[in-house]
Amino acid sequence: MRTKMAEGLVTGYYSFDEQHRELIDLIDDFCSGITAKRRKGEIVMAMEFLDNYFTAHMNNEEIVMQKHNYPDYDRHKAEHDLFKKSFASYKSEIITCERIEDWAGEEGLKSLLMVVHGKHIKTEDIELANFVNVKARDSYLTTRFTGLGA
Ligand SMILES: [Fe+2]
Ligand SMILES: [Fe+2]
Repeated sequence: MRTKMAEGLVTGYYSFDEQHRELIDLIDDFCSGITAKRRKGEIVMAMEFLDNYFTAHMNNEEIVMQKHNYPDYDRHKAEHDLFKKSFASYKSEIITCERIEDWAGEEGLKSLLMVVHGKHIKTEDIELANFVNVKARDSYLTTRFTGLGA
């Protein structure tokens, strides 16, 4: 059964919500794996998988923004880029640490994934979804009522 999205995380845009739901499941699994002190190689592999999913998801949002000439594209994309850069930095810390037990970034990485990503959905992603949904509704209404004797 799919995870129910927490209150405040539903954007109302289908593909974003499906991808966010998947990401939240992956993040939960990943954070449990870190807490359970899995081996370094397993953590790096899971990070690569998560990284690919995040990149595909963010690319999808950026394509939607470009398609709809979203006015806050630069600000939204800058948050994506900062997130990816921070994630990559944690990944390289883990890859280069001698022993995973000595790595001190666990809380910071979990906070990036759960708090920073959650805040991004609640602000930037919801704002984007609202913009696209309003445009779609306006376009529908224009098409629906065109030619009705106006
Ligand atoms: Fe986003
Ligand atoms: Fe998103």
